[in-house]
Amino acid sequence: MLMRFGVSMEKDLLESFDHFIIKRGFHNRSEAIRDLIREKLSREKGFKTHKVMGTVTIVYNHHIRGLSEKLTDLQHDFQRYIQFTNHVHITHDYCLEVIVVKGTEKILRDFTNRIGGQKGVMMALPSFLTIDIDEG
Ligand code: NI
Repeated sequence: MLMRFGVSMEKDLLESFDHFIIKRGFHNRSEAIRDLIREKLSREKGFKTHKVMGTVTIVYNHHIRGLSEKLTDLQHDFQRYIQFTNHVHITHDYCLEVIVVKGTEKILRDFTNRIGGQKGVMMALPSFLTIDIDEG
């Protein structure tokens, strides 16, 4: 059974998505979204118990009320997986943080998604390397 739901996104992102759809030969947005979700979910399933190390790079607007505090709270919630955090003020409004992390991919993807889901966070980009090959 197919269910319908509404999706909101920025105009630029939607235009890029429509170009992607044409390039990859999808018939419509629904088909493309289904395919991307399936691909994402199967990736998560396959990698969730892997131990990884890497970075989560975030860009956010620090003028959004409560956002800086919320991002600090989240990093404290996951503090045992965080090695260190580096903060760069990139413009008057935007900050960039590189958070170096170590843990299972499932936990770190959850952390990344929770950061990325905050209003005012423009980007939350994970970059992980599997490290449990050497450790058995
Ligand atoms: Ni800053």
